[in-house]
Amino acid sequence: MPEFSCLPPLSLYIHIPWCVRKCPYCDFNSHAVKHEIPESQYIDCLLNDLEQQLPGIWGRRLSSIFIGGGTPSLFSAEGIHRLLSGIRARMQTVATMEITLEANPGTFEQEKFNGFYEAGINRLSIGIQSFDSDKLKRLGRIHDGREAIQAIETARKAGFENINLDLMFALPEQTIEQGLADLQTAIQLQPSHISWYQLTIEPNTYFYTHPPVTPDDELSFECQLQGQALLASAGYAQYEISAYARNGQQCKHNLNYWEFGDYLAIGAGAHGKISRADDQSIHRYWQVRKPEDYMDATLRTAGKEILSEKDRVFEFMLNALRLKQGFDLELFENHTGLSRKLIEADCATAIDSGLLTQQGNRLHATDRGYLFLNELINMFS
Ligand SMILES: C[S@@+](CC[C@H](N)C(=O)[O-])C[C@H]1O[C@@H](n2cnc3c(N)ncnc32)[C@H](O)[C@@H]1O
Ligand code: SF4
Repeated sequence: MPEFSCLPPLSLYIHIPWCVRKCPYCDFNSHAVKHEIPESQYIDCLLNDLEQQLPGIWGRRLSSIFIGGGTPSLFSAEGIHRLLSGIRARMQTVATMEITLEANPGTFEQEKFNGFYEAGINRLSIGIQSFDSDKLKRLGRIHDGREAIQAIETARKAGFENINLDLMFALPEQTIEQGLADLQTAIQLQPSHISWYQLTIEPNTYFYTHPPVTPDDELSFECQLQGQALLASAGYAQYEISAYARNGQQCKHNLNYWEFGDYLAIGAGAHGKISRADDQSIHRYWQVRKPEDYMDATLRTAGKEILSEKDRVFEFMLNALRLKQGFDLELFENHTGLSRKLIEADCATAIDSGLLTQQGNRLHATDRGYLFLNELINMFS
C-alpha cells in the first residue's frame, strides 16, 4: 500500500477565461469578450468554488497562486484585490507567497499595473510573444513592439521586480536572425525570467485550418540552439523545456506542477490535483470550460478521477523529466506515495538506452533524452 510521508506543497491556479479577441494560434480556454465581462459575478463564483474545495485541504497552507488566462489583466485592480483578500480570508498561506498574474501589453492594462501590485501581485508574467510589430500583426495580437517594451517599463515603475516575459519563436516566415533579435531585446530588458516557446500549430485553432508558412524543423531547431546559447551567455539558466531564469528566480508555481505537487483549481476549465492523507489517494478534477456554465454552481465540476499507481508514475515522469535537473527519488516517493522500487526496472532500461542518467538518488534526462523526451516519458507508460 503506497504511503505519503508528508503531503506535497499546495498551490492555487485561478483561470480567467476572457480576452479582447481570440489569437489565431491559441488553444487555451479563452473567449473573446462579447459584451461586458461579468467580473464581479465571476469573482463571487471563484470564491464560492474555493470554499467548496476547502474540506479537501483542511489545515494546509498555500505556497503559490497563479492567475492565468485568458487575459487576467482585463480584470480591474479592485477585482483582483477582492479576489486575493477573499482567498486570504479563507486559507492560510506561507509567509512569502509567489502570486503571479498574466498580463498582456496594452495601454488599458498598463494603467492598472500599480493597482495589481498594491493588491498583492508580486510576479507579473507579460505575454510579449515578439517585439516585431509585423510578426505581432501576423499573430493577431492587439499590441505592437513599442507597447510591449512600454509594458515592461510600466511594470518596473509600479514596483514589480519579478517579471516573466513570454516569447515565441518559429513564427510565420521568421528567420533565425529575427527570432534571436526578439530574444536579444528581451535580454536587454533584464526580466528575472523568460519563457521561450516554439509556436505550435494546435488543432481547434484558426492557424490549424489556415496554416501559415512557418520555419521547417531544421531551421526551428537551429534557432532554438542559438537562442539557448544566447540566453545562457546572458545568465538565463534553462531549468525546464521552455523556462529560463536569472539568479535562480524560477517560477515557484510552475515548479510545483513539474515536481508533481498539489494544486487547487478554480475558474472555467481549470484542472486541479490533490493528495489526501486519510486514504492515501490522489485526486484529479476539472471544471467545465464554458464561463456561463462555470458560473452555474450546479454545472461547475465537469469531471474527477482517482489516479491509479500507473497514472501516478506516468504523470510524475511526464512532469519531472521536463526539468533539466530531473528529480530525486525521495521526491518521487513523497509526491506519488509510491516506493522507488516500482520504477527501478524502467529507469534501468532508460539508462541503458542512453536517455536517462542517475547520480546518487537524482535522475535526469541526458542531452539525447531531452531531445527525445516523448520517447523517454513513454518508457514509464
Ligand atoms: C496562457 S497563454 C496566454 C497568456 C496571455 N493571454 C497572452 O496572450 O500573452 C501563455 C503563453 O503560452 C504561449 N502560447 C500560447 N499558444 C501557443 C502556441 N500555439 N504555441 C506556443 N506557445 C503558445 C504564449 O507565449 C503565451 O503567452
Ligand atoms: S494567446 Fe492570450 S490573448 Fe491570445 S487568445 Fe490566447 S489567451 Fe487570449
